Amino acid sequence: MGSMKVFLATLVTLAVSFSVNACPLADQAVLLAFKAALNEPYLSIFSSWPGNDCCSNWYGVSCDPTTGRVADIVLRGELRTPFLKKPTGQAIFGEIPACISSSLPILRIFDLVGNQISGKIPADIGSLGWLTILNLTDNKLTGGIPPSIVNLGSLMHLDLSNNKLAGEIP
Ligand SMILES: *[C@@H]1O[C@H](CO)[C@@H](O)[C@H](O)[C@H]1NC(C)=O
Repeated sequence: MGSMKVFLATLVTLAVSFSVNACPLADQAVLLAFKAALNEPYLSIFSSWPGNDCCSNWYGVSCDPTTGRVADIVLRGELRTPFLKKPTGQAIFGEIPACISSSLPILRIFDLVGNQISGKIPADIGSLGWLTILNLTDNKLTGGIPPSIVNLGSLMHLDLSNNKLAGEIP
C-alpha cells in the first residue's frame, strides 16, 4: 500500500515536471501569431509545427530546458543559389508580428537570415532583454532601425545587412 502511494506520488511529480517543460501558453500564442503572419510556400515549414508543445519538434524553435520557455528561433531561408530558376529551399514571406517582442522574455537567438521578410522591425524589439544574436541579414525589411534597440543589453551579434532599411543606427 505504502509503495503504491510512493508510486502514485512519483507519477504525479513526473506529470508536473513534464507540464513545466511544455511550451507555456504565452510563448505558444506568440509563435502562432508569428506563423499566422508569415508564409513559407516551398516546404510549408510552419505545417511542421504540430500540436501545442512548441518546445517539441517545432522546426526552428528551441526552448530553454530549465525554464521551458522559447529561447531560440532560427528559420533561415535557403533561396541563396541564384542559378536555380525554381526554388528548392525554404523562404519565408510576410512581416514580423509586433507581439514577438512583448512575450518571449528569454529569447536569445532570433535568426531569420536569407528570407523574404518585409515590413518593419517591431518598434519594441528592445524589450527582448536576453537577446544575444539578432540576425535578419538578406531580407526585404524596410523602415528604420528602432531606437529601442539600444536597450538590448545582452546583444553580442547584430546583423541587419542586405535589407532596405533607412535612417541612422540609434
Ligand atoms: C548573420 O548571418 C550571416 C549569414 O550566415 C553571417 O554571414 C553573419 O556573420 C551573421 N552575422 C553575425 C553578426 O553573426
